[in-house]
Amino acid sequence: MNRAAVIAGVGGFVPPRVVTNDELAQRLDTSDTWIRSRTGIAQRHVVEPGTTTSDLAAEAGRRALKNAGADGADLVIVATTTPDRPCPATAPTVATRIGLTDVPAYDVAAVCSGFVYALQAGTAAVTSGFAERVLVIGAESFSTILDPSDRTTSVIFGDGAGAVLLRAGEHDEPGAVRDVHLGSDGAMADLITVRGGGAEERSRGEVPRQEDRYFRMEGKSVFFAAVRRMAESSRTVLARTGWEVADVDRLVGHQANTRILHAVAEQLGLPPERAVLNIDRVGNTSAASIPLALADAMADGLLRAGDRVLLTAFGGGATWGSATLTWPDLPVG
Ligand code: UT7
Repeated sequence: MNRAAVIAGVGGFVPPRVVTNDELAQRLDTSDTWIRSRTGIAQRHVVEPGTTTSDLAAEAGRRALKNAGADGADLVIVATTTPDRPCPATAPTVATRIGLTDVPAYDVAAVCSGFVYALQAGTAAVTSGFAERVLVIGAESFSTILDPSDRTTSVIFGDGAGAVLLRAGEHDEPGAVRDVHLGSDGAMADLITVRGGGAEERSRGEVPRQEDRYFRMEGKSVFFAAVRRMAESSRTVLARTGWEVADVDRLVGHQANTRILHAVAEQLGLPPERAVLNIDRVGNTSAASIPLALADAMADGLLRAGDRVLLTAFGGGATWGSATLTWPDLPVG
């Protein structure tokens, strides 16, 4: 590998409407105290009717390009669990909205690991010479697939988008993606799922059931699998990079649950304060979670040029993955 993929810009966007825990407690058997103590979430953002994933993705993408001072990209990858439609992919719509016509654009479906999967694809596109600049976006309007009567999922997920622009650069420059590790286990497909709306349901020829259109999660089983897989994957990618755990300045994990992220840090032997957290403000935004956390951490001054950053995620599939990178010198704003 002669060249590296380097982060040239970061952008985040959340829809303006905020839903607090108290607002949810007005219609669900839950409480602010339970949600905060079990998840770390205080509020989440949700789309208004008519706003879709491509709206959020396009705005985050524009912001990443602006942050990079770039006038375009030659590949767009959108990681999402909530595409605008089952067909076609959302990425071409996003690319066109940003003004990037004629460029290749495709979706990645790995639920909450989607951004790390898309980052791997974007990195490979740059290092192979296929693309010079790749816009990697994670975007979700997750509220559109939640069962409003299900307190176990409604309190957790939120909407938003985050994006990074990758450009060709050198391995030793700040911002270079060092290594990516990915994994999956299809035997866990039922733990995080939307059963209906796909070929499985259609092939049975049954009348679609509304309840099968909603997202379902076996929270407890997912919790333990998430901690185990994120910790294992983190160790693997750190070993590939040649970094010790103590070398990691910032752990930017998928914002699934504050307790999960602290448990991952503990299993790795990393001080919990090195974990970046924005879940209190945005909830679990699935594929958007890591790039949104990066954008918020930048705005909060938590990422400095040269910081060694570990990304890690676990999501439906099951899928998981981790990446190492150094942080670039980027303007905030
Ligand atoms: O993004 C992909 C990856 N996703 C994740 O990693 C999510 C992983 N899972 C989790 O974060 C946690 O399992 C949850 C936050 C979903 C649930 O937390 P928990 O500590 O595992 O709670 P639990 O499911 O064991 O439920 C404890 C109690 C139960 O009541 P009983 O049986 O003890 O009487 C639940 O019915 O809490 C109850 N409960 C609630 N109570 C108030 C479940 N949801 C709620 C709620 N409000 N929203």
